[in-house]
Amino acid sequence: MYVHPFWSYRPIVGGFAVKNHLENAEFIAPEDFVPALQSVYDSGAALPEGMSRDLATRHRLVFDSADAADTHLSSLSAYQAKALPVIDQIEMTNRCPYTCGMCPRTISMTRELGDMSMDVFTSLITQVAGRQRYLALHHFGESLLHKGLPDAVAFARDMRVRTALSCNPPSLRPQLAEQLMRSGIVSLLLSQDSLDPETYKSIRGRVARASLADTHIRELVRLRNEGGYDTAITLQMINMDANRDEANRFIDYCAEVGVDRGVVIRLGRWDFDDSYIEQIGEVTAPGYTAPCSLPWTALVALWDGRIVPCCHDYNGEVVLGDLRTQTLDEIWESATARHFRDRNDDSAFCRKCAFSKWFKEQQREREGFLYFHRERAGEGEERVEWVNPESIGWRDGVAWFNRFDVLTGASAGASS
Ligand SMILES: C[S@@+](CC[C@H](N)C(=O)[O-])C[C@H]1O[C@@H](n2cnc3c(N)ncnc32)[C@H](O)[C@@H]1O
Ligand code: SF4
Repeated sequence: MYVHPFWSYRPIVGGFAVKNHLENAEFIAPEDFVPALQSVYDSGAALPEGMSRDLATRHRLVFDSADAADTHLSSLSAYQAKALPVIDQIEMTNRCPYTCGMCPRTISMTRELGDMSMDVFTSLITQVAGRQRYLALHHFGESLLHKGLPDAVAFARDMRVRTALSCNPPSLRPQLAEQLMRSGIVSLLLSQDSLDPETYKSIRGRVARASLADTHIRELVRLRNEGGYDTAITLQMINMDANRDEANRFIDYCAEVGVDRGVVIRLGRWDFDDSYIEQIGEVTAPGYTAPCSLPWTALVALWDGRIVPCCHDYNGEVVLGDLRTQTLDEIWESATARHFRDRNDDSAFCRKCAFSKWFKEQQREREGFLYFHRERAGEGEERVEWVNPESIGWRDGVAWFNRFDVLTGASAGASS
């Protein structure tokens, strides 16, 4: 027997609520069901006597073999397909003065550098307008370097597409910050991986000046508040060995400077090999889960107009089409894009990615489920969401940040 790994459960009176994450379906099971299912999962043995085989098969948790499960998984991608693509990120530029060791741009990105032309940008926004209301204006670069950024934000706003940006506070000059807010940017995520000047430089490189970052953050908050701008401001720290002890201080700092939200997120693996990423920190996001939902929901436009399947494609490894010669609909319907969606679970590019798991796990956490994808909280371990409590559920920015997984750990002053 084979039990696929995409299930979790939470205790309820008299049994368990079991969720099959692939089917997005939940059902009620008796008390002996979960231990029995777990033992099949662990051993591959037959279902124990007395366990409701019917329940497990009806809810597509157990299969006669791993091959049978695979066949079922492939069929799922068919009904995940959407009629229309959604653009998750637009790469305004892939130029960047920072040299972050945890970012593939620094050591692995080999494609040509450049800025998105306003023609490609306006054409793309015009095509997505009315279909989606929100997207981010970065991929692998520092978008603040793009001279047309405030105009791009304003154009998108006028087309009723709200924009967000992840950027580095030392590059966010107050004048530019105000232009962006006036143009209608709805969410600014500031990457601030340390408050300690030396640590900050060791993580983000020579141009990462902590004092400048601090000045810019405070100015940003002041300008936002005084100008009455409707922009959500978040500070983000990625949990790494270099800043491991700083989380509490960071959250206190977020409250002190008056941003809306501080988040300490997990270190992502991208496609780094173990020996490299282990030098930076611990990756606690587990491995690949197929089929991933991103190719159906999160296309990315590279600066030159090429479309890639998701935010993990830093090198343009899987190019689905090109906006300079095709419309978005043509790209979405192309044989290349269809093939990628159909064979997503076989793709070499996808197999090295840990990202889709984050979505699923976050969903599990939100729903109060205990185990999912073989990942467990340690004995007595508490999961804490490191946020400014006042900003929980906060307006526009929340949609974006909901996708980020948050750190496991205990902290005085953080809210659970
Ligand atoms: C690739 S960056 C581009 C935007 C901008 N240059 C910045 O750093 O904010 C997009 C986001 O990925 C985050 N990031 C980079 N490497 C990461 C990693 N290994 N794990 C988690 N997040 C990472 C950055 O902090 C940033 O929030
Ligand atoms: S994380 Fe952002 S700032 Fe750092 S190298 Fe990557 S793109 Fe540049």
